[in-house]
Amino acid sequence: MHPGAETAGLTLLRAAEAMPRSSAAAVRAVLAGIGSYLPETLVTNDDLSRTVETSDAWIRERTGIRQRYLAKPHETCAFMATRAAEAALRDAGASASDVDAVILATATPDQAFPATAVRVQAALGVRGFGFDLSAACSGFVYAVSMADALIKSGQARAVLVIGSEVYSRILNWQDRGTCVLFGDGAGAVLLRASDGSGADAGRGVLSTHLHSDGALGDILYVDGAVGQPDHPGHLIMNGKEVFRHAVTRMSETVDEALAANGLDRTAIDWLVPHQANMRIVDAIGKRLNLDDKKVVVTLDRHANTSAASIPLALSVAHAEGRLHQGQLVLLAALGGGLTWGSALIRL
Ligand code: UT7
Repeated sequence: MHPGAETAGLTLLRAAEAMPRSSAAAVRAVLAGIGSYLPETLVTNDDLSRTVETSDAWIRERTGIRQRYLAKPHETCAFMATRAAEAALRDAGASASDVDAVILATATPDQAFPATAVRVQAALGVRGFGFDLSAACSGFVYAVSMADALIKSGQARAVLVIGSEVYSRILNWQDRGTCVLFGDGAGAVLLRASDGSGADAGRGVLSTHLHSDGALGDILYVDGAVGQPDHPGHLIMNGKEVFRHAVTRMSETVDEALAANGLDRTAIDWLVPHQANMRIVDAIGKRLNLDDKKVVVTLDRHANTSAASIPLALSVAHAEGRLHQGQLVLLAALGGGLTWGSALIRL
């Protein structure tokens, strides 16, 4: 090691030892507002059965999906993300000037760059900074984790965390094995810093756990890119393999979140899993021995909206008056990468 570097390190260590212990509680990222946006066009299973060889019965039975919303040309990733973020700000009683950062989880950005997050930043009038995050269907959980880290490290005091997706633009509408499964939409939350005192005691993001395994990259991917004008790509999926990993990995990450916080499964008020398939959600609920009533399900009405699915589900539960301060909410997702992870939040 460079002698200077060693000296600098020791100096830092001594300075840290000399630092007085703060009596202030640790900073937490508290969920302050939730919002969402769904495209104008509702498409039922029967509608799809007129363009591809499928049926309402097959889709409902194999997935639990009844309908999805599909974006019109003006309903871009940025457009929907902005609407969802505005709704989250309204819900929090906050304004754009309160926000320090915008993190947008998406696999379907408007352009290769600039990041769609900065388009949203400009549309809202947010100062600070913004960036996109690519982790497919786990994107929102990853983005919550990044926002939590920014807040805990003091780099931001309020962060808009958004999932916005237009998968309709990357689906092969001739492939009945995939095109019936997805929908478009956006969801957003505002996370704000709190010192955990008073009414905020115990609230906030308690932990996040992130994983990826690139060796499984080929069981769910897009065979093109925004940067390839002649071939933006189509979603390709080995459904059975993804299904198997979804049940195992999401159950594992729920358990690791609980273990890290010294909690057992009965402590969960709401499990908000990534919304891909009712059979996956049921299998996870069964493995974890969770009451169905504690699992938020919206895939029947939105289908799989990838990174938007969890904030959309949160938004529905919130609008229905099911979320209350003090409740324990566990988010769990799995998506292309493979990526998976969880976030445990005390409301
Ligand atoms: O968001 C990221 C995570 N994604 C997921 O978690 C998705 C995980 N996977 C799944 O949800 C399920 O595997 C699917 C819903 C994709 C498929 O369900 P499955 O029970 O694994 O069906 P399958 O692919 O084995 O297909 C069964 C049959 C096949 O016919 P044969 O070969 O048995 O004659 C398919 O051709 O169903 C047929 N099929 C359809 N029939 C009517 C496939 N898609 C359709 C369709 N309509 N849309």
